[in-house]
Amino acid sequence: MICLVIFLLGLAYQTLAQGNSPFHGNATQARLVGGSSNATGLLEVLYKGDWMHISSTSASYFTQTEAKVVCNMLGYGNSLTAYAFGPGNGNKLFGSLHSQGLVNIQFNCQGTEPDLTQCRGWSNSFSPSAGYQGYDVALSCERTQLRLQDGDTSHSGRVEMFIKGDWHSICDTGFDDSEAQVVCNMLGLHSTGIAKAYRGSHFGQGAGEIVIGSLTCKGNEADIMECNPAFDSSCNHRNDAGVNCDSTPVRLVDGPTNTSGRVEVLHGGTWGTICGDSNFDSKAVQVICRMIGVNNPHAFGYGYAYYGEGQGYIVINQLRCDGTESDISTCRSYEWNPPGSSSSFGCSHTQDAGVNCNGQTLIRLSDGVSEQSGRLEVLHNGHWGTVSSYGFDNHDLAVVCRMLGYEYSANSFYMPNGYYGQGIGEVLVRDLACHGMESDIGLCGGNWWPKTNPGDHNQDVGVNCDGVIPIRLGGDGNATAGVGRVEILHNSQYGTVCSSNFDRLDLVVVCRMLGYNNIPTSAYWYHGPTYAQGLGEITVTNLACNGIEGSIGQCGGQWPATRSCSHDNDVFVNCLGASEKIRLVGGSNNFTGRVEIYHAGQWGTICDNSFDRTDAVVICRIMGFQNPERAVAYTRAHFGAADSHVPMVMTDLQCNGLETTLGQCNPTWQSKYCTHNQDIGVDCCPSCQPSIVG
Ligand SMILES: *[C@@H]1O[C@H](CO)[C@@H](O)[C@H](O)[C@H]1NC(C)=O
Ligand SMILES: *[C@@H]1O[C@H](CO)[C@@H](O)[C@H](O)[C@H]1NC(C)=O
Ligand SMILES: *[C@@H]1O[C@H](CO)[C@@H](O)[C@H](O)[C@H]1NC(C)=O
Ligand SMILES: *[C@@H]1O[C@H](CO)[C@@H](O)[C@H](O)[C@H]1NC(C)=O
Ligand SMILES: *[C@@H]1O[C@H](CO)[C@@H](O)[C@H](O)[C@H]1NC(C)=O
Repeated sequence: MICLVIFLLGLAYQTLAQGNSPFHGNATQARLVGGSSNATGLLEVLYKGDWMHISSTSASYFTQTEAKVVCNMLGYGNSLTAYAFGPGNGNKLFGSLHSQGLVNIQFNCQGTEPDLTQCRGWSNSFSPSAGYQGYDVALSCERTQLRLQDGDTSHSGRVEMFIKGDWHSICDTGFDDSEAQVVCNMLGLHSTGIAKAYRGSHFGQGAGEIVIGSLTCKGNEADIMECNPAFDSSCNHRNDAGVNCDSTPVRLVDGPTNTSGRVEVLHGGTWGTICGDSNFDSKAVQVICRMIGVNNPHAFGYGYAYYGEGQGYIVINQLRCDGTESDISTCRSYEWNPPGSSSSFGCSHTQDAGVNCNGQTLIRLSDGVSEQSGRLEVLHNGHWGTVSSYGFDNHDLAVVCRMLGYEYSANSFYMPNGYYGQGIGEVLVRDLACHGMESDIGLCGGNWWPKTNPGDHNQDVGVNCDGVIPIRLGGDGNATAGVGRVEILHNSQYGTVCSSNFDRLDLVVVCRMLGYNNIPTSAYWYHGPTYAQGLGEITVTNLACNGIEGSIGQCGGQWPATRSCSHDNDVFVNCLGASEKIRLVGGSNNFTGRVEIYHAGQWGTICDNSFDRTDAVVICRIMGFQNPERAVAYTRAHFGAADSHVPMVMTDLQCNGLETTLGQCNPTWQSKYCTHNQDIGVDCCPSCQPSIVG
């Protein structure tokens, strides 16, 4: 009831007001003055022939709704922004009016009225007064004009707004990504979806007055003037706000491919680097690689200036991405360093971040004995460097072989300590720590260059994916019978194997490599006589095979042998356990005599130390005599001493009588301390005399 009365009263009042307007005609004449265009400035209305200002001390008296009505009146239509600057702001922006004024009118417009005088709060009984100085109502019927200055691209820079006939920067107070979003939208630069705010005069300092002291946008406003701006200029140009509405320009420098290298960021017109601190991770790498157009889950990166140290300044420190960002500017980080800054956040160019977006380290094998073997080399900075064997293991080997397109098998092995020769240049990784399933060693942990210091090439790792080691038998043996000195191709030459710690398990593997699987119990290894010893390198010592390896390369040991070994210790093998060729010399018949054994191409004798009947039995068995167990042993050159040029082949036979080779009797080879006065002899058929048994 009361409402109805008030409504009817209001209606009568309005009718009265319109019918009796002191304003010009039926429509109020209004204008905006002091602004940089007719569409913005302080509001004046024509009142009884005089231009008058309107002043208001309360924000609720002249709001956006009233501004809309005025803009409509002025013919700017509804579609554009109509923005009322709050009380006290108009004069700061547009100066002072000296006209008379109408004060504190509560217009109570709906926004659809064609004229201010039709708003409910209007009264014709207002009388002009001096008004409240400094509280003139100001509004804008047009979008705020913005521009970006001094950016890295046309889509980034210091934000400047056109007001009062000039361009003015904006203070960075409260200037965040939602404010940047409004700016980018206003500039029509929203296609990338990137709107990154920069504080601290990121894009350099503007000049002149700073008009807007702060903004509080939600992000969806059509104009920064809707963001509750505070108009005060206590701000300093060091705090000028900037935005980037575009992808940050990034480039990769000094990598071996165009998708790898040191990451450089264009910022403030200058290229700078990213600090590759210990938390620089694959998520940041993903973002950077997507920025250069490579979307690869196997991309990887390096801290610590793997691709060399950049020049200039370090732009970003503590980069922390969640991996889904389309631009590093939207990852978390410390405030980006201003262009050319010498401040480095405690980081240095020794930590410059690098990425490899294709996820492919360029590697090769050098100086090997086959296509699938050699010193592991990595292309870096235009040169091939090496990999340290320190911390290298089979997991790493598996990744390397896979990278090279070879199969990692039970025969694959790696060699430490420069086995395939020492490389030159840098040692690019040490303590490589692959799990084994990685597609590239770059995805493995490790101490990557330059953290390989001291890069020592005597640790260069060699790899061999198929396990092939050229091996042969030399030393006047009989290679077709599996007998001879073991020789291994290394450094383009065949070297020998030292017998230190050599045992039957090693023999099994050596013979397997020579093509003899499942060697008989009569197979054995031995030392050759001096004249049959090898020359040159002793390629390995302390072999430690467990018998199941496909290649002695997998057995461990020292490759190559240290100086502690001599060719006296060259390993000879008899893989098939073929019985030795033995003859009897100097006897009165062909079943007695001095025992001579054909050894490494010559006939030699055997020393009588600990020689006994069981040894003689084996000799006679080898010679094919029937009933060898009847053999009689003779010592002290019973059948005459051999000539001095005849070698003494072995001593200390320890046969148990059942052996089929003398090697099985665990003799001491190279009986240097015996003389031919100790040549042994046998009688293989004591009861045969004088008849002949064969
Ligand atoms: C004012 O409005 C009245 C009624 O709408 C109209 O008759 C009159 O012509 C108008 N006067 C002017 C100056 O437009
Ligand atoms: C601004 O208003 C003045 C006076 O009303 C007029 O002469 C001028 O053409 C207007 N300018 C624009 C750009 O509308
Ligand atoms: C890298 O170079 C190749 C050939 O030179 C070119 O096809 C490719 O587009 C380049 N990639 C990038 C990311 O520049
Ligand atoms: C080498 O061994 C093979 C097979 O046992 C044999 O046929 C050949 O005669 C032997 N050669 C020599 C020189 O002993
Ligand atoms: C042993 O010597 C006799 C002649 O003295 C000879 O006929 C025989 O073939 C020889 N046997 C062997 C096994 O050499």
